[in-house]
Amino acid sequence: MLIKSVLPFLTLLLSISIYPILCNNNTEEETSCINLKFSISQNVENEGFHREINWLIESLDLDNEDWSNLNNSLCKVSLQLHLPSGIFVSPDQISELIRQGQISAYIDGHVNVETPAHESEGHTVYVYIASNNLEKVVVQLPIHLRYQRAVISGGFGKVNLPRPSLLVYCPQVGPQICGEFPKLHAPCDVSGNHCVWQNVTYQALFDEVQLFVPIGDLDDYPLVSIVTLLLGCAGSIYILSLLSTAPL
Ligand SMILES: *[C@@H]1O[C@H](CO)[C@@H](O)[C@H](O)[C@H]1NC(C)=O
Ligand SMILES: *[C@@H]1O[C@H](CO)[C@@H](O)[C@H](O)[C@H]1NC(C)=O
Ligand SMILES: *[C@@H]1O[C@H](CO)[C@@H](O)[C@H](O)[C@H]1NC(C)=O
Repeated sequence: MLIKSVLPFLTLLLSISIYPILCNNNTEEETSCINLKFSISQNVENEGFHREINWLIESLDLDNEDWSNLNNSLCKVSLQLHLPSGIFVSPDQISELIRQGQISAYIDGHVNVETPAHESEGHTVYVYIASNNLEKVVVQLPIHLRYQRAVISGGFGKVNLPRPSLLVYCPQVGPQICGEFPKLHAPCDVSGNHCVWQNVTYQALFDEVQLFVPIGDLDDYPLVSIVTLLLGCAGSIYILSLLSTAPL
């Protein structure tokens, strides 16, 4: 009689004590992921057609365990920047920087460095950053503005420089980053092999910027040619007058 009334209580006790053991593997997995949080500041240097983008990428509150996990992982981080038709990166210049070990980057898309903005297409550049270097890293990327179609009033043209996306890739084996982010296929390294990246959110410490490009002024053309012509005539008349008045 006594056993019968105690039995349900015992089973309940037993299941409560077993529950954590069965579900343990899930909780453990969550705590061992790498908690990555980044901030990025951006600064565009120089004026005119040739600029340089500087990004300062900083990891926010990474603890020691996260660091050693990250150091021992084969995770990669990259900045993906989509350049509109008014801006390009020079493939020759990037190859040279790669050769000198100053950058690790891949250009996705065809780049014609000669064409003006309205005859060009955008392309995408990926800049890769080693995972043991993520506490605070400066990434520099030289960019060039294209000539824009001359307009009647001249002045300056504007090009929007979009924000970069921050992508993280961790191989299937080994530590993963915490959280779920949108996935995308993109080039994995300088040789352009693809892998599946995660599009990680970051704290942007900058506003999206517009770059100004000098534009040729059609108004100037008639004026410039007339002045040149007049100066030419005046010069010839002056020389002729000198010759005709000179004593022979
Ligand atoms: C965690 O446990 C579930 C069942 O409880 C099992 O299907 C899964 O494979 C386990 N995961 C790992 C990483 O051991
Ligand atoms: C991770 O690597 C960086 C650079 O190699 C080093 O400065 C840092 O001390 C390492 N951190 C840990 C926890 O091993
Ligand atoms: C990554 O996510 C941001 C928003 O969080 C979005 O603006 C951006 O276009 C995404 N990038 C890619 C390559 O999907």
